[in-house]
Amino acid sequence: MLRIENVSAQYSTIKGPVAAVRNTSFDILDNEIFGVAGESGCGKSTLLKIMYDLVQFPLTLSGGKVVLESRPEGGGQPLRLESGNIPKAWWKYISYIPQAAMSVLNPVYRVDEQFYEIIKRHHGGAQSKSQMREQLSEYLTELTLPVDILDSYPHQLSGGMRQRVVIAMATFMKPSMILADEPTTALDVVVQRNILMMLMELQQKMGNTFVIVSHDMGVHYQITKRLGIMYAGTMVELGPTQELFEDPLHPYTQMLIGALPKVGDHRPKEGIPGSPPSLRQPIVGCSFEPRCPKRMEICRRVDPPFVQVRSGRCCACHLVPPQQ
Ligand SMILES: Nc1ncnc2c1ncn2[C@@H]1O[C@H](COP(=O)(O)OP(=O)(O)OP(=O)(O)O)[C@@H](O)[C@H]1O
Ligand SMILES: [Mg+2]
Repeated sequence: MLRIENVSAQYSTIKGPVAAVRNTSFDILDNEIFGVAGESGCGKSTLLKIMYDLVQFPLTLSGGKVVLESRPEGGGQPLRLESGNIPKAWWKYISYIPQAAMSVLNPVYRVDEQFYEIIKRHHGGAQSKSQMREQLSEYLTELTLPVDILDSYPHQLSGGMRQRVVIAMATFMKPSMILADEPTTALDVVVQRNILMMLMELQQKMGNTFVIVSHDMGVHYQITKRLGIMYAGTMVELGPTQELFEDPLHPYTQMLIGALPKVGDHRPKEGIPGSPPSLRQPIVGCSFEPRCPKRMEICRRVDPPFVQVRSGRCCACHLVPPQQ
């Protein structure tokens, strides 16, 4: 449904460019929940912005493109848009829940006014306020959210409720694809669970595609079907979530999963020593080489390509041979 083709992007800064996303390619399939994981600063949010085509200064796309394809159910014109044109599909085909979404609500407007803006954008003001209100109330009830939140200002709602409102806004036009950046970060575990349940129920009901960015591997394990692991601005491993947890191939994924606490396992957990490379300097060889316990001589010189290594599994590591 969304094809990311050799995408590279950088931020212009006074100290020089930051290569936040480097030569990344993968596909998002119809009706799946796809996860993107990786440590802070590895480019997850930037990748999502590129997928949504929200590329504004200081961010620029330095190579590649994203292709959005959508076939409406029950026939109708199929949609095919490339980077630069994807905003035409915003809200109706693809919507985006930004990181720290709770704070994207406008503090001086009531929640209903903020919903009306979305409806007006698509129906050109053809509907009256009472019609919009009725439609909204029905939708909130469907999501088991109290209808009176429509009369609240954002500051009158709890953080968890604000997050639900933003999710409701992003899904209101029933888009085929929803990109959610850290939808549960900064929420306590109970609210986090409720939000995850809400996302999963929505996905089951609407059959749309979700892309969830999170550095929380527990979140990915619980809800995503396929998972991509990013490191230093690029994808280093991708595969079905369950398989990736049971049999990680890239040393970074192995260490990331090895560091997770497990019930009944009392062995001391080891972190990943060192820190990711600076994205300001060009990276020569494999970006994980300085921290990799399995590094070889070639890793310092040659950046391993991100290739299919088994059916449905891709990896960028010299230790994992490509599928023949
Ligand atoms: N507006 C900006 N100007 C300059 N550099 C930026 C900007 N936004 C992000 N970066 C840099 O780009 C890189 C990738 O950032 P990004 O926000 O995509 O990472 P992330 O994986 O989403 O991190 P986190 O998990 O903390 O949200 C980082 O090195 C970051 O410092
Ligand atoms: Mg981020």
